[in-house]
Amino acid sequence: MLPWSLGWVLACANTDSQDSPRLPDEQVEEEVPCVDTFPVHVMPEMPTDYETPLPIREDALPELLSETGLYTDQGDIHQALIAFTPRWSLWSDGADKVRWVYIPECSPIDSSDADNWELPVGTRLWKEFSVDGQRVETRLMERLGPRPQDWAYASYLWDQDGTQARKVGIEGQNQALGTTHNIPSRAECQECHGPASKGGGRPSRSLGFTAIQLDHSDTETDLNALASRLSEPLESDPLTGPDTTVQALGVLHTNCGSCHNPSRDGLPQSDLDLSLVWGHPLEQAGVFATAVDQPTQLFATPSVRHRILSGDPHGSAVLRRMETRGNSAQMPPIGTHQVDEEGTAAVRTWIESL
Ligand code: HEC
Ligand code: HEC
Repeated sequence: MLPWSLGWVLACANTDSQDSPRLPDEQVEEEVPCVDTFPVHVMPEMPTDYETPLPIREDALPELLSETGLYTDQGDIHQALIAFTPRWSLWSDGADKVRWVYIPECSPIDSSDADNWELPVGTRLWKEFSVDGQRVETRLMERLGPRPQDWAYASYLWDQDGTQARKVGIEGQNQALGTTHNIPSRAECQECHGPASKGGGRPSRSLGFTAIQLDHSDTETDLNALASRLSEPLESDPLTGPDTTVQALGVLHTNCGSCHNPSRDGLPQSDLDLSLVWGHPLEQAGVFATAVDQPTQLFATPSVRHRILSGDPHGSAVLRRMETRGNSAQMPPIGTHQVDEEGTAAVRTWIESL
C-alpha cells in the first residue's frame, strides 16, 4: 500500500506526462483502510460532579460472555482469536484452563521490551476454568484506552448446563456452581494483573501471553504467525539449564513473579524478585541476587531467617510460604486454597541441590 503522499506524487507524474498516457491498469492504488474485527468497548463516561460515584471500567464489558467476541454465532471460537498456553501455568487448585487472545489487526504489539509487551488498545484476553470437567468460569481482560490504567477485568460464571455465562459482580463469587472454585474479586485481579498501586503486576498486564511464556515447543500458538504482529522480531531463545533449576524457577516466575518482579508495577514493599527475564541466562535470574542466602525482611519466624537457604528447604521462607494455606503466611496470598504439590516439590528439589 502506498503512503498517501507518495500515491499523490505518482498520480501527478502520471497526469503530467503527455508522452505516456495512463493505461487503465495503471490506476493509482487506493488506500484501503484497515478495519479491526472487534471495535474497542467504550469506557464509561466519567462524571464531572463530585457526588456521582466513578463508574468501574468493567461496566464497559458486555453482560454475557457470548457478546464478548469469544464465540461465533455457531458457538465456535472466533477465527480472529489466537489460542495460547503459557510455558508455566499458575496453580489454580487443580482447575483446567484454556486461553485465547484477540490482537487488533490494525495495530502491532510494541515488543521492544521483551518482558513487558505493550498490547494495543482493543486487545482482549480470555481464560476459561473447568473443575472436574465442568466449565465454571471465563475471565476477560480488555485494554480500553491508551493509558496504563485503561484495562477492564471481568469474570463470567457459567450456568449449570454450560450453555451461557453471565458477568459476576466486582466482589467475585465463592464456591462457584457448588465447586471449591472461587471467582476472585476485581480488586484481586488487579493484585496480580494491575499496577503497583493495586498490589502488583506488570506493565503488560498480561502474564501468560508474554515472550518468555510463549517460547516453548509444546504450544498451539504459531510463533511465526505471531511474528508479523510484533514490532520487534521474537527470536526464539528458550531458557536452558539443568531441568531442576528451569522447573523451579518457572514455577516461581508464574506463581510469584506477577507480584515479585522489578518492573515499575511490581510489588512496591519488597525487593524480592522471583521473575525470569527473557533472553537472560538462568544464573542471572533475580532469585539468585535477591533470595538465595539473603535474609528475610518482612517475614519472621524463629526457624526461618532466609528467603532461600542453600541446601535447606525447611529454612527457606519461599518454600515455607508456598506450603502454607489459610493464614497470612500463605503465598501467593490470593487465588488458591490448596498447596501446589508439584510446584512445591520442584522448588524443594532445587533448594536441596543448591
Ligand atoms: C494470584 C494471581 C492472579 C489473580 C488473583 C488473577 N490472575 Fe489472571 N493470571 C495470573 C497469571 C500468573 C496468569 C498467566 C498464567 C496462567 O494463565 O496460568 C494469568 C492469566 C490470565 C488471563 C490470560 C491472559 C494472560 O494474562 O496470560 C486472563 C484473561 C486473566 N488471567 C484474567 C484474570 C481476571 C479477570 C482475574 C480476576 C477475576 C484474574 N485473572 C485473577 C495471575 C492471576
Ligand atoms: C498477589 C501478590 C503476591 C504474589 C502472587 C506473591 N506474593 Fe509474596 N508477598 C506479597 C506481599 C504483599 C508481601 C509482603 C507482606 C508479607 O510478607 O506477607 C509478600 C512477601 C513475600 C515474602 C517475604 C519476603 C521477606 O523478605 O520477608 C516471601 C518470602 C514471599 N512473599 C514469597 C512468595 C512466593 C514464594 C510466592 C509464590 C509462590 C509469592 N510470594 C507470591 C504478595 C505476593
